[in-house]
Amino acid sequence: MKKTTIKDVARRSGMSIATVSQILNQRGHFTQSTINKVNIATKELGYVPDKNAKQLRKGSAVTITVVLPNLTNPFFSSLVQSMQQYLETSGYDNIDLTFQTSAFNRLDETINNLINRGIDGLIITEPLPNPIHTHELLTLHHIPYVVTDRNADSNLTDSVSTNEFSGGELAAQHLKILGHRKVGLITPSYISPSIGHRIDGFMSLWPSTGDMQPRQFYTEFSMNGGKQIAREIAKSDVTGIFTLNDEVAIGLIRGLSDLSLSVPENLSIIGFDDIDYANYTVPTLTTVAQPISEIGSASLSLLIQRLINNSTSDVIPQIQRLTFNNKLVARESTKVSNH
Ligand code: RIB
Repeated sequence: MKKTTIKDVARRSGMSIATVSQILNQRGHFTQSTINKVNIATKELGYVPDKNAKQLRKGSAVTITVVLPNLTNPFFSSLVQSMQQYLETSGYDNIDLTFQTSAFNRLDETINNLINRGIDGLIITEPLPNPIHTHELLTLHHIPYVVTDRNADSNLTDSVSTNEFSGGELAAQHLKILGHRKVGLITPSYISPSIGHRIDGFMSLWPSTGDMQPRQFYTEFSMNGGKQIAREIAKSDVTGIFTLNDEVAIGLIRGLSDLSLSVPENLSIIGFDDIDYANYTVPTLTTVAQPISEIGSASLSLLIQRLINNSTSDVIPQIQRLTFNNKLVARESTKVSNH
């Protein structure tokens, strides 16, 4: 959708850009008929004055908000930390970075509130319930946004993702190389598109029927979820398991330990993310590492480029989609299968 600009309002009302600008900013002296023409054109075109343009030009504060599912998972705290660091080193002194957590089912409400609070740009890490509606709303308010992580599938705006499918394949290959034939996968009840690709990549390397078909265990996507599912996994015949994220893996190690079972002797566990704790758990965690810091800085950098572009040009740049690779980090929680 082409952005309605002040030029369009000037053309429609038959006034100069300077006149439109002054009237919209309640400056200067104009006849009531001129003011009416500008107001009618503004309304008809749905024009919303571009606050970003003014602020970036003047160097006054610009607020960017990052919307996240939570800040308790170290994946997300590392992500925001990397954005903060990027900002500190990139010299944009007038950008305020704020963080907002939101449950998936309250995302629309959260975004509406942020718009009303006057934010200038958004980074969204969760899938949007109504992506087209949100896109139109943000576009109307001239609020550029970048999507990443769980939300990176959008083709409406710039996105930053990792190659989730091959990340899942890396986990499967690792267990296969270690000789595991009966494996499992711990799955959350809500599967975002990115996690879906992760699962598909893992499943793609195993038969889809028969004995070697991976067994799925369902639990909450959290440490507690991992702990809660331990008993059910312990009762099964799987020798290796992919937990889809590190938090679940850490909870599972705890749950198994409570049952007097140890990792990797009784079960090999592979996580996903490579959060800081992965290197400190007992045993240390084998995982598929996401380049968390690069995801954070690339998302912020794309958004800043959009804000700058909004303020200097009427041409909307092409949508950019950045994808990073993940890599396997083999540590102590996986070993060769005895079965
Ligand atoms: O641990 C948090 C998980 O949720 C990560 O794997 C990340 O990709 C997000 O989707």
